[in-house]
Amino acid sequence: MIDITDRVRNKDLQSKIVTAEEVANWIKPGMTLACSGFTASAYPKAIPLALAERMKKEPFTVNIWTGASTGPEMDGALAEVKGIKQRLPYQTDAKLRPEINDGTVNYLDLHLSESAQLSRVGYLGKIDAAIVEVCAITEEGNLIPTTSLGNAASYVQSADIVIVEVNTTQPLALEGIHDVYVPLDPPNRLPIPLVKADDRIGTNYIPCTPDKIKFIVPCDIKDHTRDLSPIDENSKQMAKFTIDFLHSEIKAGRMPKNLLPLQSGVGNVANAVLAGFVDSDMTDLVVYTEVIQDAMLDLIDAGKLKIASGTAFSPSPAGMERFYKNVDKYRKYILLRPEEISNSPEVVHRLGVIAMNTALEVDIYGNINSTHVCGSKMMNGIGGSGDFARNAYLTIFYTPSTAKGGKISSVVPMCSHIDHTEHDVDIIITEQGIADLRGLEPRSRALEIINKCAHPDYRPILLDYYNRALAETKKANTPHLIDEALSFHSRFLKNGDMHE
Ligand code: COA
Repeated sequence: MIDITDRVRNKDLQSKIVTAEEVANWIKPGMTLACSGFTASAYPKAIPLALAERMKKEPFTVNIWTGASTGPEMDGALAEVKGIKQRLPYQTDAKLRPEINDGTVNYLDLHLSESAQLSRVGYLGKIDAAIVEVCAITEEGNLIPTTSLGNAASYVQSADIVIVEVNTTQPLALEGIHDVYVPLDPPNRLPIPLVKADDRIGTNYIPCTPDKIKFIVPCDIKDHTRDLSPIDENSKQMAKFTIDFLHSEIKAGRMPKNLLPLQSGVGNVANAVLAGFVDSDMTDLVVYTEVIQDAMLDLIDAGKLKIASGTAFSPSPAGMERFYKNVDKYRKYILLRPEEISNSPEVVHRLGVIAMNTALEVDIYGNINSTHVCGSKMMNGIGGSGDFARNAYLTIFYTPSTAKGGKISSVVPMCSHIDHTEHDVDIIITEQGIADLRGLEPRSRALEIINKCAHPDYRPILLDYYNRALAETKKANTPHLIDEALSFHSRFLKNGDMHE
């Protein structure tokens, strides 16, 4: 077994060190396991792998709650043996996704800021054990987290039994990068005392006591972070529209020169937009977001970033190496918080965040579908996009104007599923252009979105739909032809193409 005694600083606790197999054998069918992990960062690895091995011989299911998505050692391994019954609050796993869409897994797709509170108030049932990856356990039994916080602190607080995975690949230099604050629940909740993105309001450990800790498992498996794809032309174009637009907002006096705190989703477009800031003339940028990716390291190196506050540090494997090599420099700029705080509507509203997230499709009135392909099939989940979109100072959504080689228009008459309503959305950006919806009533929004954002191939049929809806409804507030509103989707389902 890997030696972790130097990382278990409370000597009495060292007697609780066991193998992952012992923990897997202790877990009972139907248990709810509330785990650390947010993106492919800081999720337990040895225990879920051992549990999946046991489930291969002895099939059963458990409920898995986390901070958000995890890596293949958890969601992937457990999905492969059909070991998950209930999953919340977010996932991105290619093996789990089909099981969510064929009825095997009951998936609760939650606003991330609300998921810890939901787990605390009890109507989701009781947590049987919290399983948390840590760098180290202190003399007092407190837990030093690793590359993300997610819901780990709240889960440890609620659970009677805590199981700890001590990951020796996570550097002890991470100690001090966290700021752990779990709000009280109503009616006792107080204002979250965070008024600047770099304010520290909590502890640098997850509070825990030795008596709660049942097992301690050594682990030497690295976070399974993924390489980013090279930035494509569409993403570059969307990044350019964003930077130009933000410059014009500064010029119009609606934002300070160093902007307002930036939130950006994950993936190609988000990375391209942040890379756009590296090449821009903007400095002293502040990031108040969920996931901290490679581009933040570029911003630090370019001397443009004051602070990046998030809940997960999830760079590519190369970005992780870069961080570890220069950890003393980078850690001064990075702060990790529970997702209840990184995504808090109260804080997002107070700081006046600029929210930048990606949509699957948008409709002509500005509603957004981030989650369901053709209305039914779950892609990933809403994640934190709703926390930020509803509460931000400025809400931007991105989507390439087409998908699947042009067979899908990302601008449709009516979204087949709505995650963010027209009331939440200020700006839509595709590689075609930028639609500024602020101050526009629905009919003007439709023309702005169709003319600026839709692909030229689809513009005529969208305009035709809009004009006929306008005539038929006698210029109603939000004109729709009810029998035709989802015709783009039904054509795609029948013919594999949204064109007429
Ligand atoms: N209809 C059907 N499929 C579509 C589509 C549409 N309108 N638009 C995109 N897709 C498909 C793409 O073809 C691609 O499929 P593939 O992997 O089989 O090629 C897939 O969806 C992903 O699209 P991609 O263009 O690669 O975008 P992405 O990686 O940026 O992901 C979302 C886009 C919307 C799926 C992703 O951003 C997401 O899950 N968002 C919700 C959560 C969120 O916003 N989190 C951050 C908040 S802090």
